[in-house]
Amino acid sequence: MANHLLTRRQAVGRWLAATSIGIAARTLWLSYPAQAQVLPETPSCGPDDGATISQTEGPFYTPHSPAKRNFRADAPGAAFTLIGFVTNKRCRPIANAVVDLWHADASGAYDNSGFRLRGHQATDALGRYVFETIVPGMYPGRTRHFHVKVAVPGQRVLTTQLYFPGDARANSGDSIFDHRLLMRVDNASDGKIGRYDFVVNVA
Ligand SMILES: [Fe+2]
Repeated sequence: MANHLLTRRQAVGRWLAATSIGIAARTLWLSYPAQAQVLPETPSCGPDDGATISQTEGPFYTPHSPAKRNFRADAPGAAFTLIGFVTNKRCRPIANAVVDLWHADASGAYDNSGFRLRGHQATDALGRYVFETIVPGMYPGRTRHFHVKVAVPGQRVLTTQLYFPGDARANSGDSIFDHRLLMRVDNASDGKIGRYDFVVNVA
């Protein structure tokens, strides 16, 4: 059934074409209604929900990453598109939040001398970000993960990590894994799309 899936570009284009956070949060991924699934809002933002939890930046953070949203030329690997919103706890989108992403290559190694698989972007007027990258490899002691910092001007930077739902065994064996940081991952015809919405403590 893979031929019924949208490409990553089509899916992201549909998502970006939405004109409100409510519509965008419910964008259908799949081209055929019978197969369509509605993306859950991850995590739900609202009065009963807290901000996205923080986690350690780990030993491989390099400050001053370049403005870059497409990492595909940085290293070979399985195509992965990471998208989502930055919102406050009342689900209001935060424009111009800086989302800084860094992660291991497919073999689990970080580029600690340059900026391969490292880059940042600002959210758009609807609080959205989109990265094109690859699926990171695992490395000893760690399940598969992305590292992220979300910076909103005048606020404390949110430093956290994102996890892959398909790695249940490795996730459960990683002492810092937290299910609240699981992405929603869907298949596209040409790779995978991961969705995670960051909820920050901003009025
Ligand atoms: Fe890491």
